[in-house]
Parts: sequence; structure tokens; C-alpha cells
Amino acid sequence: MDSQSFKTLYDELAAEYTQRFPRSAEHHHKSKSVMVDGGQHTLRLFDPYPVHIRSALGAYVHDLDGHRILDFWQGHFANILGHNPPLVTRALAEMLAHDYGLQTGMVDELAYNLSALICQQTGAAKVRLTTSGSLATMYAMMLARSYTGRSVVLKVGGGWHGAQPWGLVGVSYGKRGYGGLESEGLPGEMAKEAIVTRFNDCQSLEQVFSEYGDRIACFILEPVIGAGGSIPAHPEYITLARQLTERYGALLILDEVISGFRFRAGDVGRLYGVQPDLTTLGKIIGGGMPVAAVAGREDVMALAGREGARRVRFDGGTYSAHPASVLAGTVMLTYLVEHEAEVYGRLAELGQQVRVRLERIFADRGVLAQCTGYPNDAVKGSSMAMLHFPVKPGVVIDSPDVAADPACCMIQVREQIFKLAMLLEDVYTVHGLGALSTAHTQEDLDGLYEASDRAAQRLKPYLS
Ligand SMILES: Cc1ncc(COP(=O)(O)O)c(C=O)c1O
Repeated sequence: MDSQSFKTLYDELAAEYTQRFPRSAEHHHKSKSVMVDGGQHTLRLFDPYPVHIRSALGAYVHDLDGHRILDFWQGHFANILGHNPPLVTRALAEMLAHDYGLQTGMVDELAYNLSALICQQTGAAKVRLTTSGSLATMYAMMLARSYTGRSVVLKVGGGWHGAQPWGLVGVSYGKRGYGGLESEGLPGEMAKEAIVTRFNDCQSLEQVFSEYGDRIACFILEPVIGAGGSIPAHPEYITLARQLTERYGALLILDEVISGFRFRAGDVGRLYGVQPDLTTLGKIIGGGMPVAAVAGREDVMALAGREGARRVRFDGGTYSAHPASVLAGTVMLTYLVEHEAEVYGRLAELGQQVRVRLERIFADRGVLAQCTGYPNDAVKGSSMAMLHFPVKPGVVIDSPDVAADPACCMIQVREQIFKLAMLLEDVYTVHGLGALSTAHTQEDLDGLYEASDRAAQRLKPYLS
């Protein structure tokens, strides 16, 4: 889509959007008077302004203008059973009715229950809880740097590990690819301490290890890369990651903040037949509440403990192991473990249906569109889907750089045009769709297909 067509279509969609969501506009204006950009997290804030919601249940959110919006974002992918599942909300209500639930700052049985479940389902020896995925990945990197006595964090270009120092390198694709510090306010040396390799590219990985191997403290990657493109790693890539980290004395950190408990009732590392040194978890493990964790090897985790002289100040935070959060997480994980076959079987089925149908709908309207999120030999079923708009047929989207390179995919069409076109149909998408939850019914998906078909028709005349 050329820039003039993009502008014409964007303006048309934005004008309709403004008419359709007037109360959100009003509230956005008010929000901007006290909050930077009117809200939190860049992914929640988009042009011309985000829909402001007032309630959420199952597959839907309800906004200030009275729309019932079918949601595929599902709380940053945290809500695998849909919004506010009664299973969790009832347990929380009951807890609060019995004088427990808000923070005490003491230890209790609840944190043990969640930690034991995480160890059982991931094969980790020890776990420590914290409050956000960003903190979990930061602590994991600190543990790795301390354990190895080395400074360099190796990550994949386009991998999002949260807004923490080493995570803020190599996330956005620029003219020279990935690399460099993406935030001011960090120590300048950070740029030298985080280096970037290409996802799913075995040759590049071998090369980077042969060049920097003796300086690399850890290699951190998502086994199924989320924001970078909903792409599962090739099994041989994860195997090689394990072999090279072992050979060079670096730690392997699998960042499973998205993938943990999304593809099975546990970590995805197991599906690849790999035991990482550390796993970071978040999102689903909190059952809709803020919980994150680092889980891993006894000797590495010990560095955070008293016996390890607290060499790594992984202190977790005031709200770490918050009773209500930990209860919500335990209820959620217990359910997922007990209903594993049913939950993940259904999610895989829905995911596959959505990816195939969306591609067909756009093809039938003569619009080139391609889904990622398809399973592979290791990850056999997947509830994730991103819709991309390649510039030509035959683009193989197996790494974030392909999804983000304007010479391969029309990223603004996905992020702005498709997003607004779908919101005008009362469907909330992120990165070209998002993830399925068990709350999504066949009727909901049929609604998604009708909405997508109308969106495809809107796009078609503007594509050259
Ligand atoms: C893979 C991955 N790691 C880490 C994070 C950071 O988690 P949080 O947003 O809870 O800080 C995210 C967040 O989206 C993520 O997707």
C-alpha cells in the first residue's frame, strides 16, 4: 500500500472510529490530562485513541459507548480462560470474605502451593516469585551474569523481554536491522552488554557464539516468539541453543512469559525436549493477577538466597507473592493441569481453524495475507495467530525481522489499518489478531470471519 493510499484509508477509518466511539474520545482527552499519553503500556495506546472499557467477561469486553467487543488480546495474552473466569473470581471473593487476600508481607501456604505447581510442571528445582515479567527476565539475567562471572546477554532481534535494561536492546527493527539501546536513561555500557542474533537462524547463532562465546553469560529467547511474530522456534534451533550454551559455559534462559502454560500445562521447553537453566514465567501463571517467576536450577537460583550470600539481590518486591495474586495463579494452574488435554486440545483446534480461515478469507478477496502461529514438530498445537500483509507472495515469516521489514510485510497495515477496521466491527486485535481463549465459541469465531471479510473488502481497493 503506498503512503497516499495508506493515509486516505487511515483517515477514513479514523473518522468512522471517532464517530463510533465518542465516549472513549472524551475519556481519552480527560485521561491525557493526568496520564502520559492517557494510559499505560504502548500496546494499549494507539491512534486516534484507544477504546475505553468498563467491564470484561469471557471472550468480550464492554466499552463506555455500549459496544460489546470480541477480544483476542485477552489481557496481554494472560487470560487463557477468557476475561474474569468465575473459577478465579469466586475463589478471590471467598478469600476476601475470610479476612485474607491483600498484602501482608509475610510468608504463607499459598506461595508454596503456586511454587510447587510451577516446579512440578516445569522440572525446575527452585522458583522465586515476583510481580512482572520484566522483573523476572531482569533477575534471570542478573543470576546468569553472577553465575558465569560474564557480562554479555545474548538475545534475539525482535524479542521482547520487558522494559528492563538488557531487554531494551534490539527490540525494534530499524534501517540497520536490530541493535542498539532503545531507551534513554540507561547506562551507556548497556549497548555493549546485550548483543543480538537472528531468531531461528542456526548459522548466525553458531557464528555469534564462536565470536563472543567466552563473554556470553546467557542466551535468552522465547521458544515461541510472541510480540516478535507468534513464531515457534524450529526444534533444531532450540537444540542448538542448548548445545552451544553448554559448550561455551553460558546459561540458557527460556523466556516463557507468554508461552508458559499457553501450549501445555507447563513450560514449552519440555515440548522441545530441552531443560533450560532458567525459565521466566508471567501472564497466565497469575490467573489474571500480577505474578511472575524465575524457575530453574538449584545452584543458579541459590545465588539469590542466604546460602549464596544473596549475591544477586532478587528481592521480589513489596507485592511479590501477593496473597490474592498467588491464589488466582494457583486456581488457574490447578485447573490447567487437571484439564490439560481438554483445554489445550480445544485451543489448538480453534487456533488452527482461525489461521486457516483468515488466510482463506483474505485470499478470496484478493488480498495477500499470511498467518503465523502455526504449530511445528515440537509445538504440536497453537492458540496464537498473527495476520501479516506481505508485500509479495512467497515471503517466509520465520523470524521477527521478516515480519518487521517493510520490504517484506506491510506492518502499518497490520498495526493501524487492520486494527481500526476490525474495531469498527467490534473486534479487538493486537498484532493482526492475538490469541484464543477457551471462552471463544464457534459463534464468536464466525463473527470474527464475517468481520475480517468486511475488513478485507475495505482494504482491497487501496492495495496496489
Ligand atoms: C516474552 C515476554 N517476556 C517478558 C515480558 C514482560 O512482562 P511484563 O509485561 O509482565 O513485565 C513480556 C510482556 O509482554 C513478554 O511477552
